[in-house]
Amino acid sequence: MNAKAIVVTSGKGGVGKTTTTANVGAALARLGEKVCVIDTDVGLRNLDVVMGLEGRVVYDLIDVFEGRCKLRQAIIRDKRVDTLHLLATSQTRDKSALSEERMRETVRALLEDEGFDRVLIDSPAGIESGFQTAASAASGALVVVNPEVSSVRDADRIIGLLEAREIPEVRLIINRLRPEMVKRGDMLEVDDVLEILGVKLIGIVPEDERILISTNIGSPASLEEGGPKVAAGAAFRDIARRIRGEDVAYPSFEQPKGIFAGLRRVFGAG
Ligand SMILES: Nc1ncnc2c1ncn2[C@@H]1O[C@H](COP(=O)(O)OP(=O)(O)OP(=O)(O)O)[C@@H](O)[C@H]1O
Ligand SMILES: [Mg+2]
Repeated sequence: MNAKAIVVTSGKGGVGKTTTTANVGAALARLGEKVCVIDTDVGLRNLDVVMGLEGRVVYDLIDVFEGRCKLRQAIIRDKRVDTLHLLATSQTRDKSALSEERMRETVRALLEDEGFDRVLIDSPAGIESGFQTAASAASGALVVVNPEVSSVRDADRIIGLLEAREIPEVRLIINRLRPEMVKRGDMLEVDDVLEILGVKLIGIVPEDERILISTNIGSPASLEEGGPKVAAGAAFRDIARRIRGEDVAYPSFEQPKGIFAGLRRVFGAG
């Protein structure tokens, strides 16, 4: 992806935006990029916790927006990977503190003045002002979707809004795939999700209990080397490499037919 500022979004809540932001951000930083991940979920901040940096937040994005500190003072550098940085958000304010204009200026300053190679913006759920602000500074988007009908429908809505904003690079991440359920015909297939959404795929992340463990200890799973090839951490590392333009093969998940009817019912397709 050419985009240096990428919003991570989904429409539906709880599908894995924050997990994706932390893991892809950490993996890009491990590959040598100077990365800043930004939390825009004002009032419900948790990117700092997922990254294990909550104890180091002094100033946040809203402090920057409202001039209480310099941008540089609010940037927290990770101790594990020194090219990884976090800009946390406020836990005590509400979304009215967000401003598209300030968001664009902050991202511009990160890229042009502070020399960041990539900025990942973790969007709140929904299609309201929080999402709009997060998307306002982005030239690329990672749309996170779970292989279930309600998540696909919300992703479809979000993709429409990203298109309305004329964001040039929109890519899809299918998260929490359970190959054994797909095999039984109990979960949507990758091809069907892609056909409905009409957006290029950039990664498939399996359901993996280590995501919960890594979240609890505040260390992104993508920083754990080794482990089985299809585990979530490895899938997030593959996504980082694809963002950088590498041609990384997908592990094979078996894809029997059978569930398309469920999607057709909701989308009126076919
Ligand atoms: N691949 C995965 N395997 C297992 N658990 C996962 C996976 N991805 C995310 N989760 C879990 O799903 C839950 C929601 O993830 P996360 O907080 O990243 O979602 P979100 O989209 O940011 O939610 P919100 O809309 O509330 O901001 C978390 O408990 C997380 O650990
Ligand atoms: Mg989140």
